[in-house]
Amino acid sequence: MSAAHQLDERARALFRKAFGYPPGAVAVAPGRINIVGEHTDYNQGFVLPAAIDRHVGVALRLRKDGRVVLHSDRYSMPVEVADLPSRRQGNWADYVFGVADVLRLHTSGSPGFEAAIVSDVPVGAGLSSSGALEVAVAVSLLAARGEAMPPLQIAKLCQAAENVFVGARTGIMDPFIALRARGGNAILLDCRSLEDQYVPLPDGRFVWLLADTRIRHELASSAYNQRRKECEAAANALGLASLRDAKESDLERIENPVDRRRVRHVITEDARVLQAADALRRRSPKGLGPILYASHESLRLDFAVSCRELDCLVELAAGMPQVIGARMMGGGFGGCVLVLLDAAGLDDLEQHLAEGYAEEFHRSPEFYRVRSVDGVMSERTR
Ligand code: GLA
Repeated sequence: MSAAHQLDERARALFRKAFGYPPGAVAVAPGRINIVGEHTDYNQGFVLPAAIDRHVGVALRLRKDGRVVLHSDRYSMPVEVADLPSRRQGNWADYVFGVADVLRLHTSGSPGFEAAIVSDVPVGAGLSSSGALEVAVAVSLLAARGEAMPPLQIAKLCQAAENVFVGARTGIMDPFIALRARGGNAILLDCRSLEDQYVPLPDGRFVWLLADTRIRHELASSAYNQRRKECEAAANALGLASLRDAKESDLERIENPVDRRRVRHVITEDARVLQAADALRRRSPKGLGPILYASHESLRLDFAVSCRELDCLVELAAGMPQVIGARMMGGGFGGCVLVLLDAAGLDDLEQHLAEGYAEEFHRSPEFYRVRSVDGVMSERTR
């Protein structure tokens, strides 16, 4: 059974156990890796994500009133509200409420529902557990209502829910890939035009490994919004609509050295995404190596969103002959390092990383061996 089908079954089973009858619709949405293109989406730049075989499943039934009841396999206490709230409550349910609240403006009928939520996407590891949850909620709500909506519109709704309701000013990459992914491919997404192209991933001789620092910095969300502000201010100062339009020659016009470094990261990272897509199209996975390492250095030094634990794992990986390339992935300040390597050296690499990391930090990293998969799947069950 596929990873997505397992989550589908688990969501249905939890729903039945919690409510005593079957759900009206089920949706299963994947988490993601991002090969390169970090902190570029909200600068209208390029990204290169692929969906992975880690999912969030949502089984749901509409109600005739405004009441919302949520059961999750992560939290023992169900969440229950008499009316769908229009403001954040300060807990995990906000991702669900946020999507339902934004969707309420686009659909008819009463806004209440019962839902069971299951997940095997690690939370806070930079694998887009929130994007997968938002997409699964949006798609299951639409399926239960028997309504269709273009994927791009769903992605924008999910982004709006996270930006406005939850208060994290994230870009469009995460919901977009959860909706549009195709197994065996990454998506080269232009976050300005929102045009996307499928790009073939390396064949089975190469694998993607995620090494999780298991560091979850509180700093992450406030620093993320802060970086976004800095980028907007820098674009403004240069008289540009976004940093997508910034050129190397603009750098000398920026006096503040910190601002200059932030802008340099965005310019060089956008270029790296296009180079990486090119290497993949030429079927040259080894060409990705220098691009991944350069992205890490740029995120560490120019954008300043790495941490010692991430740097340590990248350094350890870089010392191994089976490794093609490695870098921190996602928003930063913890979470995972993404490694591309020769499949034959996987066990050895995990051992090397675990030992080196434990020596330095007296704790073990966690490993996720991931495969690329299709985007969201859904079913209206009655
Ligand atoms: C988070 C956000 C994305 C993106 C990355 C950094 O995952 O959700 O929109 O900005 O950080 O590239």
